[in-house]
Amino acid sequence: MEILPSSGDIQLQTETLASQLKQDSVVEDISAGRGVINFKVNRRLLAEKLLEPFGKGGGDTFGLDSELFNSLKRGTTLVEYSSPNIAKKFHAGHLRSTIIGNFIANLKQSLGNDVIRMNYLGDWGMQFGLLGAGFGQFGCVEKLKENPLQHLFEVYVRVNKEAEHNEDTKQAARDFFRQLEQHESQAVSLWQQFREITVKEYRHIYERLGVHFDVYSGESFHQDQAQEVVRQLQSRGLLKTSEKGTGVVDLSPDGDMSSVCTLLRSDGTTLYITRDIAAAIDRKEKYCFDEMIYVTDKSQEHHFSQLFQILLSMGHSWSDGCRHVSFGLVQGMKTRIGEVVFLEDVLDEARARMLHNMSQSNTTKKLENPEDTAEKVGVSALIVQDFKGPLQSDYKFDWDRILQAQGDTGVFLQYTHARLCSLMQRNEGMEAATFHPSLLLEQTSIIILQHLLRYDEVLYQSAQDLQPKHLVNFLLKLCHLIASAHRELPVKGSPQDVAQARLRLFSGACSVLANGMRILGIIPVNKM
Ligand code: ARG
Repeated sequence: MEILPSSGDIQLQTETLASQLKQDSVVEDISAGRGVINFKVNRRLLAEKLLEPFGKGGGDTFGLDSELFNSLKRGTTLVEYSSPNIAKKFHAGHLRSTIIGNFIANLKQSLGNDVIRMNYLGDWGMQFGLLGAGFGQFGCVEKLKENPLQHLFEVYVRVNKEAEHNEDTKQAARDFFRQLEQHESQAVSLWQQFREITVKEYRHIYERLGVHFDVYSGESFHQDQAQEVVRQLQSRGLLKTSEKGTGVVDLSPDGDMSSVCTLLRSDGTTLYITRDIAAAIDRKEKYCFDEMIYVTDKSQEHHFSQLFQILLSMGHSWSDGCRHVSFGLVQGMKTRIGEVVFLEDVLDEARARMLHNMSQSNTTKKLENPEDTAEKVGVSALIVQDFKGPLQSDYKFDWDRILQAQGDTGVFLQYTHARLCSLMQRNEGMEAATFHPSLLLEQTSIIILQHLLRYDEVLYQSAQDLQPKHLVNFLLKLCHLIASAHRELPVKGSPQDVAQARLRLFSGACSVLANGMRILGIIPVNKM
């Protein structure tokens, strides 16, 4: 504001200002245009400095030591994501939570935080009453071992139907759940078996997605603590009894009960939110997190805002470090068999479709394990489609669109990465320890270098709003630039020093692409 007066001849001011600015070794020329000032960066220096780390195999941390991150607080971040419910459907919302949470955890970790990855299973509630009551009738131990998720779901669906018209079943379910709540050993042991077998199966399937968790917690862990929360609220005078006999907390700004949150049913049992309060307090004690991030669809926004508010009212000021990252709904995620019920179905479908596309394409290479490649590429297609726009948006799922090789898809990212890997491999041993940055001054090279230079900004932006779209769009753009570079900067047939310099550029682009893909939760393939 001090250098530029708000009125006067703008052109004159531009020229005066331009003449006052001094060039140096980085900015080699400063000139005035019509109302703009042009800064010309020393291209040789740009190429040299930017590509330096890639010569010494230091490309993995490229951009991460940027000064931009100095202002970011680092500490322990707990990210809770995926969180499916035992014996129930794993729906598209759980899939979104899984990949978004994984991205956030990867990003936080890359930026130097200690990250705890947590899965909070829906492992408590009336569905276990029904399951427990129905297992004797409809369950089969063999099937449970063979395909636990499917079998528990089947039993659950059947016993649910039965309970609709059969009072005895309903009563049996209530009895079983009460036994569970009272920790009766037989009921608990059956429940435990269901839970263990489910976790084991999930672990396995998440691995196919490239996702893992440090902790499999769940609602069941906080049963007793939830009662303790109720007692605390009572003693602080925060729990009121409603006309219906339920226990509620008044969250209205004027204290007139115009907005309340129910924490206790009239029969004295706790609810989803009561367990969440207990879980949050327990996690704070156990993990001393600096921030905690919950990832679920936007239908739970109200739930989390109530949760944070109640924690604050209980005196837990750390609640300010809790955040809910919400996302929109996905319509039409179907497989050949029909609606998606299990995570495995989505993965199988992505793999099968990608395998088919690969067999149709004449650029497909001979692969050791085509299924594995198809799965990785299929999953990246899912992820990119999901991450391209703002997380809050709803979208329609379409297999054909997401699996296109051209256009802005995960397949395109993988294809570009594989092509770069094959270029490196063909020229192995050619890369020089020192290279000549002055051989990279064409526009095509410079645009790539300038783009790579912005990698830290993009990570910074993603860290601010926890939206993956910045990184996805950065990588897609990078792939388009690399495609031009393959045409315009050939390695084969160029003089050795030119070839070496270009290889260095391609190797830098390849590292950044791979690093970015990994943060998104995509496992780059070297060949496809
Ligand atoms: N199991 C829940 C569901 O499927 C999601 C849990 C989200 N996390 C939480 N702490 N409430 O809707």
